Amino acid sequence: MKGVILAGGLGTRLRPLTLVTNKHLLPVFDRPMVHYPIECLVRAGINEILIVTGGEHAGDFLKLLKNGKDLGVRHLEYAYQEGEGGIADALKLAEDFADGAKVCVVLGDNIIQGNLRRAAGDFFTQPSGAKILLKEVPDPERFGVVRFEGDDPGGRVTEIIEKPTDPPSRYAVTGIYFYDNDVFDICQTLKPSGRGELEITDVNNAYLQRGDLTHEVLDGWWTDAGTFESLLRAANLVADGGANLAEVPVVANA
Ligand code: G1P
Repeated sequence: MKGVILAGGLGTRLRPLTLVTNKHLLPVFDRPMVHYPIECLVRAGINEILIVTGGEHAGDFLKLLKNGKDLGVRHLEYAYQEGEGGIADALKLAEDFADGAKVCVVLGDNIIQGNLRRAAGDFFTQPSGAKILLKEVPDPERFGVVRFEGDDPGGRVTEIIEKPTDPPSRYAVTGIYFYDNDVFDICQTLKPSGRGELEITDVNNAYLQRGDLTHEVLDGWWTDAGTFESLLRAANLVADGGANLAEVPVVANA
């Protein structure tokens, strides 16, 4: 399985900081943000990684990461996203890199305490489809949110809604996704959402409609770092508890 880190976008929620750099190069405690998803993949045993970025600071990723050897990456590639077409648009650029293999996609501003190794192992043996990782949060309206059958968090996922005003549960879809190679065909069928972007939630709903989406609930903390509040929280969580610790179990499979 190969790893894809999506690290583009304008980072408008972090202006003025992002007027002079890419969001994913900002510090989270003692490291640049993009180090965390890279380490997360490497610790899960995924060491062939593509970073998709864009904008005028794209060259700084090469300066920072070089060939990735210092972080344990065996093979590091870069792709350049033109424009701001959204997460699923950025993912399209990974098709050649994936070369038919399954991929683990991580949003570059997502940081977890635990280790993806077990979830990656589960997906490796999943014959086809996709797997999403969920986390219960106090502010689900900020994320993609799942609806469970019978409103039972142990139950089947019936729908994923992007940033719902009236969330059907408190379980957010984290920015860590496992996909088979069909994801690239699915991305080609998507239409831009109200915010003019190709949404990763539409990709996940496409797998759901095929009956080929599994989910697990992440144990250990998870945070994004794309707003001032979450960036501060991420720094404090890393400082207090470390990130990418050894094995933190994932629970509840469906
Ligand atoms: C994106 C996804 C959302 C997901 C979130 C996780 O939101 O669209 O479904 O829950 O990442 O961080 P964004 O941060 O791009 O608004």
